[in-house]
Amino acid sequence: MIKFCGVNFKNPMVIASSPLTSKIEWLIEADRHGAAAASTKLAFIKQPFYGKLRMHTYRRNSSIICYDRRKDMDESLKLIDEGKKRTDLILFANITNDDYDLDGWAYLAKAHENAGADLIEANMVCPNVGLSTKNIAGEESLSGSEQGGAVTGQNPERIEAITRTLKESVDIPVVVKLTPNVDDIGVTARAAERGGADAVCLAGAQTSLPLVDIYDEGRPKYYLLNGVSHGSLGGPSTKLMCFSHVANIAKKTNIPIVGGGGLESAEDCIMMMMWGAHLVTVCTAAMWYGWEVIQRQVRGMEDYLKKMGYGSYYDFIGKSLQYLRSSSKLEALDGWPVVDVDKCNGCTICAKPAHCDAIEMIDKKAVVYPDKCLGCGICVSLCPTGALTMHVAK
Ligand SMILES: Cc1cc2nc3c(=O)[nH]c(=O)nc-3n(C[C@H](O)[C@H](O)[C@H](O)COP(=O)(O)O)c2cc1C
Repeated sequence: MIKFCGVNFKNPMVIASSPLTSKIEWLIEADRHGAAAASTKLAFIKQPFYGKLRMHTYRRNSSIICYDRRKDMDESLKLIDEGKKRTDLILFANITNDDYDLDGWAYLAKAHENAGADLIEANMVCPNVGLSTKNIAGEESLSGSEQGGAVTGQNPERIEAITRTLKESVDIPVVVKLTPNVDDIGVTARAAERGGADAVCLAGAQTSLPLVDIYDEGRPKYYLLNGVSHGSLGGPSTKLMCFSHVANIAKKTNIPIVGGGGLESAEDCIMMMMWGAHLVTVCTAAMWYGWEVIQRQVRGMEDYLKKMGYGSYYDFIGKSLQYLRSSSKLEALDGWPVVDVDKCNGCTICAKPAHCDAIEMIDKKAVVYPDKCLGCGICVSLCPTGALTMHVAK
């Protein structure tokens, strides 16, 4: 159990707004596999265009989402209503609107509250509303209906104004889902906090472009879209960047954080919480590997609590922040890899890194010269047999 913005969650797992939360059947699956909550698919009062799910996918790496089928308000309200009746999930209503139409934001939020949503998730993250246009043709090219999603999330003044409007319009908590496509997400998170946000939510969502076919005029390697936009990155390649964003926000604000981006295992979720997240979101991992991923993550987090003797999730939230300091304040410790000669199979992989002359092969075994070691640790990561471990000099 974890209390977040005054709402009791049975565990920290939230299914991120996506195709996974676009229909009642999937909400039922999310519930069945142990998630505490879900954020329903992005809703507009009336969506500006009707897309279809189109994404570039790279195994074990990432997905770039250029296009998706969003929801008009009526569809979204029906989903929230059904979701509350047929599941035990806590539901975030993921909504966006033209950022100068504050009445529209208020209307959308109130309607979702009345339909039964437990929290509002103001979407200031999606690049497929207007940021993809802004990235190509500049701010001045944006039409009214494109002033939402990540375009809003880049503008602290608008974030604050919209958040304030939402807070005045509904009684349920307001969570602002921020774009990482900014200089400093701590600044935009503070704007949300000033507007009265109860929490912020963070995802990968860095705008990205796909691989192209170098033998076919540079055509993107995916054929179900005519053209390509600066789409939204999801999946494991965003995880480390999201740790950084969450820690940045945790240091600069006093509101709780929902952290997501590339979380594939229970350990990933726990690390995200150690960097300051109170709840975690998962999308890509379940899209690739199925709902069982969610079950494994939830059970893994519960097992971890017991194994470590923690009484609650709060016992480890933000634990890693104590190690965070400016580069100039870091202290380099001396060390080098040591070789377990029984495990070394003489493959020479550890001796290859171009910047390193600290490892030599003698009689088909790796030998390390500590005084030459730069401490990068790459050899340890490369070793296929686990024969190398980093030794820290006392
Ligand atoms: C196909 C797809 C559609 C998405 N649609 C939405 C959306 O409607 N609203 C939203 O806030 N985020 C949306 N996202 C972003 C996810 O909610 C999530 O924050 C992001 O993918 C990072 O998590 P992950 O690395 O676990 O996928 C979408 C992601 C994917 C892959």
